[in-house]
Amino acid sequence: MRKKNILIVDDEKNTRDGIAKFLRLKDFQCLIAEDGSQAIKTLKAEQVDLILTDLRMPVMGGMDLLLKAKNLAPDTPIVVLTAYGSVESAVEAVKRGAADFLTKPINLDKLLITITRILDNKDLKEENVLLQKRLDEKYGLENIIGTSDKMQRVFDLIRQVAPSKATVLIQGESGTGKELVAHAIHQLSPRKSNAFVAVHCASLSGTLLESELFGHEKGSFTGAVSQRIGRFEFADQGTLFLDEVSEIAMPVQVKLLRVLQEQAFERVGGIKTIPVDIRLLAASNKNLEQEVKDQKFREDLFYRLNVVTINLPPLRERKEDIPLLIKYYLDIFVKENNRSPLFIDPQVLKILQQYNWPGNIRELRNCIENMVVLTRGDHISLAEVPDKILSYLDGETASESADHQPPASEFNIKDTERTLIVKALKENNSNRTKAAQALGLSRRTLYRKLEKYGLE
Ligand SMILES: Nc1ncnc2c1ncn2[C@@H]1O[C@H](COP(=O)(O)OP(=O)(O)OP(=O)(O)O)[C@@H](O)[C@H]1O
Ligand SMILES: [Mg+2]
Repeated sequence: MRKKNILIVDDEKNTRDGIAKFLRLKDFQCLIAEDGSQAIKTLKAEQVDLILTDLRMPVMGGMDLLLKAKNLAPDTPIVVLTAYGSVESAVEAVKRGAADFLTKPINLDKLLITITRILDNKDLKEENVLLQKRLDEKYGLENIIGTSDKMQRVFDLIRQVAPSKATVLIQGESGTGKELVAHAIHQLSPRKSNAFVAVHCASLSGTLLESELFGHEKGSFTGAVSQRIGRFEFADQGTLFLDEVSEIAMPVQVKLLRVLQEQAFERVGGIKTIPVDIRLLAASNKNLEQEVKDQKFREDLFYRLNVVTINLPPLRERKEDIPLLIKYYLDIFVKENNRSPLFIDPQVLKILQQYNWPGNIRELRNCIENMVVLTRGDHISLAEVPDKILSYLDGETASESADHQPPASEFNIKDTERTLIVKALKENNSNRTKAAQALGLSRRTLYRKLEKYGLE
């Protein structure tokens, strides 16, 4: 590690040389100045980690140096040395931003402890800033890839709602990036240095979810052997992300509604009301409005959650983003697997852009990872494209060529039926269940007819 640079400022030669000799022995580097103005010159020329200065000096005293140094190098801590009996001026210096003071004659051991403590704190702060920066990079908007209009609208919304405390409901199919968006909102909010707590509501049944969210007191139910702090308490001052909210059981929905209204709750089996200050984000891959209509989700809770809605478009509705996403994940997985750069055959690119990605970006990400791992040479060819994608596209071209059959006669029932089936399949993205529904047929009947017309 780099040696720390200490600037020692004192008009008494004995004092400054004594301190410098001692600190050099302790593995510091020392710079010397006889007064404040010399110190300023050094400060302009060198990288100084800490300033140690006497208060009373000719030319420029310690107090003036303190004020100037605060402007010049605001992150460099200053320790003031003061004669015994003039503690008031030292206190004044601390009020004006000095990190600490020591009285003369200097106790060298105490000096070392003070310097080490201040420098350690400073390192810690710098580390935190770095960590925060890394978090920002990991969870900021830069990680949400997309230049399509639909995604630009999403970015605008995120930027708009992030600074507020508004509850946001994030909706979209599986794999469209709901969790990524939740992280970005937190990261762009004033709460970013506080907790981001995510709860996956689908994986927990009613009572378990209740105690996960609100915590419980010892003995409140069988199995509650000790007190437990819930997610709401952990998220205090921060952001709570409820993933898959549509899966929350009705009784827990009631309790959730109350917390949102009152900003306070009780642990399961507890009587103390605990106030919380949280920003709530919720996500669902089901349409919550429909869930309300089907009476599976409380209407009042829906309105509480749905202050702002962000709808994430499925990937097939923003196919222009596919090349960018491929490049993004190709870079990531090439690095992760320590591979030299890989090229994708134009043919493969075309296929990946035609595919409809039912699993959205998660599926695309997995597909790219898969291909990077499987590729032996320096380019990704058709051989590496997953079977699922190839067979989907076979289906597409089959129905396309069926489309180019000579026009059906108006009165030919067979032709008309065939045309209708092709149309229903196309409009439902080749989803046979949905196509069958649209045609008023059972799935089995549709399958038989597909076979009959050679449409599989
Ligand atoms: N716009 C995007 N740019 C880059 N990566 C993305 C984007 N959207 C999603 N991803 C990636 O796709 C994967 C799935 O995203 P995420 O978990 O946020 O989806 P989700 O909507 O929460 O899905 P689910 O409903 O299944 O939980 C993650 O690896 C995420 O990093
Ligand atoms: Mg998710």
